Amino acid sequence: MVKTKLIDGFPFVNYNKETFLAQETLKRSRDFYEWMNLRRTVRDFSDKPVPKGVIENIILTASTAPSGAHKQPWTFCVVNDPVIKKQIRTEAEKEEFESYNGRMPAEWLNDLRPLQTDWRKEFLETAPYLIVAFKRSYEPETKSDGNRQILHKHQNYYVTESCGIACGFLLAAIHHAGLVALTHTPSPMNFLSKVLERPENEKPFLLIPVGYPAEECWVPDLKRKNLHEISVWY
Ligand SMILES: Cc1cc2nc3c(=O)[nH]c(=O)nc-3n(C[C@H](O)[C@H](O)[C@H](O)COP(=O)(O)O)c2cc1C
Repeated sequence: MVKTKLIDGFPFVNYNKETFLAQETLKRSRDFYEWMNLRRTVRDFSDKPVPKGVIENIILTASTAPSGAHKQPWTFCVVNDPVIKKQIRTEAEKEEFESYNGRMPAEWLNDLRPLQTDWRKEFLETAPYLIVAFKRSYEPETKSDGNRQILHKHQNYYVTESCGIACGFLLAAIHHAGLVALTHTPSPMNFLSKVLERPENEKPFLLIPVGYPAEECWVPDLKRKNLHEISVWY
């Protein structure tokens, strides 16, 4: 039974979070880590279709993320249309060709060598869905000023942080559904605003192909940092 009350006129609900004994908490945290540790960025996709409802649930999960002042400053554009996927691939490959052939400094190119990535982005057409996350820097509102209607840019807060967390949730949801994803950033990404005809208040954040892994799928044998390398305890 959910209890409700008003605080300064605003509705609150009683939050009953399920908790566990210490041993069970430890086991659950370990199990979750081990399962998340199986997530990999995949670049070899199958074209096997994914039910639309799965993508809807994944996006709803992303949108459960915390956000500055609960503005949820994100739009997830879902591309399944092969014509638009091809357009995105063409534009991404144009930018990536420039990046790999002069725009990226030698150090960056060297850091990418273990991943064996290049300017070719076949997966942008193979993966059944491309989820393009846009960050919304403000919400356009019309306000009346006497007889005139004026556009007010209602700012969102901590937009990059909020979208980063939401995309983290999105990737976890994709992993949980048994699917794979690639976090892709063909730089600069402005072409995505044009291809998808997004409004001025939205800026492309991440381009995430989603689907099943190809029958033969290879990922770089990367090692993750251990706890001592990533944490400092006081
Ligand atoms: C912000 C961000 C941008 C990335 N951009 C690209 C990209 O443009 N192309 C690509 O192949 N991988 C990209 N990646 C994927 C990383 O290369 C990958 O996460 C990293 O190598 C670790 O591999 P793992 O995800 O399998 O642990 C990106 C990842 C992040 C978080």
